[in-house]
Amino acid sequence: MGLIAIIGGTGVCDPKILSNVREGYLDTYYGSIRYWKGTYNDRDLIFLARHGRMHSIPPHLINYRANILGLKRLGVTAILATTAVGSMNPEYKPGDFVLPDQFIDFTKSRHTSFFDGGTNGVVHVDMTEPYCPTLRRNVIQAAAELGDCRLHDKGTYVCTEGPRFETPAEIRMFQKLGGDIVGMTNVPEVCLAREAEICYATVSMVTNFAAGISDKPLTHEEVVDAMAKSSLRLRQLILKSIENYPVDEDCACHHTLQAYGGFTV
Ligand code: HPA
Repeated sequence: MGLIAIIGGTGVCDPKILSNVREGYLDTYYGSIRYWKGTYNDRDLIFLARHGRMHSIPPHLINYRANILGLKRLGVTAILATTAVGSMNPEYKPGDFVLPDQFIDFTKSRHTSFFDGGTNGVVHVDMTEPYCPTLRRNVIQAAAELGDCRLHDKGTYVCTEGPRFETPAEIRMFQKLGGDIVGMTNVPEVCLAREAEICYATVSMVTNFAAGISDKPLTHEEVVDAMAKSSLRLRQLILKSIENYPVDEDCACHHTLQAYGGFTV
């Protein structure tokens, strides 16, 4: 039996988007996680607040490995995450949703793998299609069904180390490299989910034009305010995407480590 998890990013940290919610803690080799288990339309779901319930964990200090391993141990087979992003693409405007299909990693100090040698060994996971095509298809379909929802069905997510925002020079460089949106949390989350053989996709919510494109300085309040304005729609989009997700079907994402005998961490 498959189980779906929602990882809520900035502005999406309330587990009450589910019914019958109860809190849980789980210890993993990398640290413990706090999560909520609940239901939506009679389907069991797990909710995890990436930055903590009160947005107290900055992007570069999130324990990504504990989060993903904890979800794996709970039986999660698919993760739909939310991420707040700045836009570097004039077509992607504040209030729009983007469903990234590629990422570029500019993080610097994070643990990006479960396989650091030693007993876990060394693994090189394929990243040709980092985001699960089935999950992505479900989000696209859900947006069409909801209507009144500007969803861009692809985009390249540039992940920075944070917690500071970018300089305009960095943004110009990212644009030249083909980036559409910029955020601080999708890497290594997506990489670890792929190593753990869990389907993964993220719905990015554009909260602002990136530094230097917008003519005023950027603030975290601006990001949180923009998230608050669209949080209802984002919640509807996430839940509708999950509603018809074939959670018990097999997927290529569940076999990413087949050549290594599967995920044995
Ligand atoms: N840069 C990085 N992360 C972000 C931004 C941004 O402009 N907006 C929301 N998250």
